[in-house]
Amino acid sequence: MTIQTINTTPYDDQKPGTSGLRKRVKVYQQENYVENYLQAIFDSLEDFQGKTLVIGGDGRFYNDVAIQTAIRMAAANGFGKVIVGQEGLLSTPAASHLIRHYKAFGGLVLSASHNPGGPDGDFGIKYNIGNGGPAPEKITDAVFARSKVIESYKIANERDVELGRLGIQNSAGMIVEVVDPVADYAALMETLFDFPAIEALFASGFRMTFDAMHAITGPYAHAILEGRLGAPVGTVVNGKPLPDFGGGHPDPNLVYCKDMFDLLMTPEGPDFGAASDGDGDRNLIIGKNRFVTPSDSLALLAANAHLAPGYKGGIAGIARSMPTSAAADRVAEKLGIEMHETPTGWKFFGNLLDAGRVTICGEESAGTGSSHVREKDGLWAVLLWLNIVAVRKQSVDEIVREHWATYGRNYYTRHDYEEVDAGIASGLVDDLRAKLPGLVGQNFGDDLQVAYADDFTYHDPVDGSTSAKQGIRIGFTDGSRIVLRLSGTGTVGATLRLYLENYEAADGRHDLETQSALEELIELADQLSGLKQRTGRQEPSVIT
Ligand code: G1P
Ligand code: ZN
Repeated sequence: MTIQTINTTPYDDQKPGTSGLRKRVKVYQQENYVENYLQAIFDSLEDFQGKTLVIGGDGRFYNDVAIQTAIRMAAANGFGKVIVGQEGLLSTPAASHLIRHYKAFGGLVLSASHNPGGPDGDFGIKYNIGNGGPAPEKITDAVFARSKVIESYKIANERDVELGRLGIQNSAGMIVEVVDPVADYAALMETLFDFPAIEALFASGFRMTFDAMHAITGPYAHAILEGRLGAPVGTVVNGKPLPDFGGGHPDPNLVYCKDMFDLLMTPEGPDFGAASDGDGDRNLIIGKNRFVTPSDSLALLAANAHLAPGYKGGIAGIARSMPTSAAADRVAEKLGIEMHETPTGWKFFGNLLDAGRVTICGEESAGTGSSHVREKDGLWAVLLWLNIVAVRKQSVDEIVREHWATYGRNYYTRHDYEEVDAGIASGLVDDLRAKLPGLVGQNFGDDLQVAYADDFTYHDPVDGSTSAKQGIRIGFTDGSRIVLRLSGTGTVGATLRLYLENYEAADGRHDLETQSALEELIELADQLSGLKQRTGRQEPSVIT
């Protein structure tokens, strides 16, 4: 057994984005690319000698290669133990749970989330800290700085760990424990939710379909929904994780889960449909004849969480990312609890959760979660929905409509313009930003008056840090909003995200088609930003 120090030259593009370093597999396959990045991470951490590192990924192409490298480098850099999921698998929320449960120093999550996989797809590495959540900007900035000057990395000259074999092994004197990826996570879910009530729901004939999209949630959903909760075998579809996700795009939205949506809109379809993404942190919820937008889902879960045993004492507060609709704000107001608006990305929720100021968090991008881990959690959201349906004995559609009748409805949509020329996209954002001060107080159309217009700056109330330039917000006096920002997770060109929202009071109209309800705002956003003309695109690439 030898520890080697290998000379290397830096790459200049290892800047972590919204959620770790995501790149094309071909980029990651360059000589020493993984090694450089991992060493830059280890060099940015302190006092981990002899401590534990959790490692796991969503099973996508290159997972197996990168995981063996990560284990050898963890050993060479002085970690005392690595806990790794069997076959290298761990969903992102399960990795977060294992870090917390075993009081690990941190963890490496190997995933590019909902981005396609395979040799021509994407790969990613994300470092999570001891609270189980994504590393804060302080660390990711240090990693990037280090990656630009790195000259060598440390690696153990060791054979591969047998990832199929549960139990203890050894790599260059470091303990490697291969664990069942599902067991601890499933046990945690059982403490949070009313499993007997959900079991009774399935026993009464309630039918559900869960699409694991050939990604990481397959084993978890089989074990929990079919294994423990008694849902009929066949409830989980596409349940086997595949390196290329079966050629699919593991993003649980209405584009990639259109067949499920169509099925749920038919009389013979099941009562409930759900899906999760590549690494298991996102969720899609569709009731019979009712798609639930992620922003509404956050509000509904927060309003009903007390029906689940894990939250029966009530929730401390809610946090949502800035572009997420304000539906949850109305719930927080009614419950008299704290409400926080944070920048896009789960890492900003960590401090609020650690400080006990919020219990439930969510993003419009199909991410919802709670203080049980420090990541969003797809299956958690599905189980909380099932718990609520089981206790309220109502359909998803009835629950959603009652919610709107109580709180009003926030019509909401997101328009993505993908693979736009990066120069054009940043020029567009810069020009709109320059216009903002002049917009306040201006009137548009019959009833739109600008109440505020800014580039969102977040002041973290827990650690006092400030994050500027987090996206353009144009808010109107009637609660409508236009938000525009550049994606931080794309791997090719730039993705412009335009978010639109308006509010219909509790006694207003709740049955309009979303795009038509938002038509005026969509046009105004184009008029203010010159989006169509400048990008040459007539339509968004994806509407969610
Ligand atoms: C996107 C979503 C964001 C989410 C992130 C990671 O980031 O918009 O809500 O946290 O993926 O899953 P973006 O590409 O917009 O930077
Ligand atoms: Zn994800």
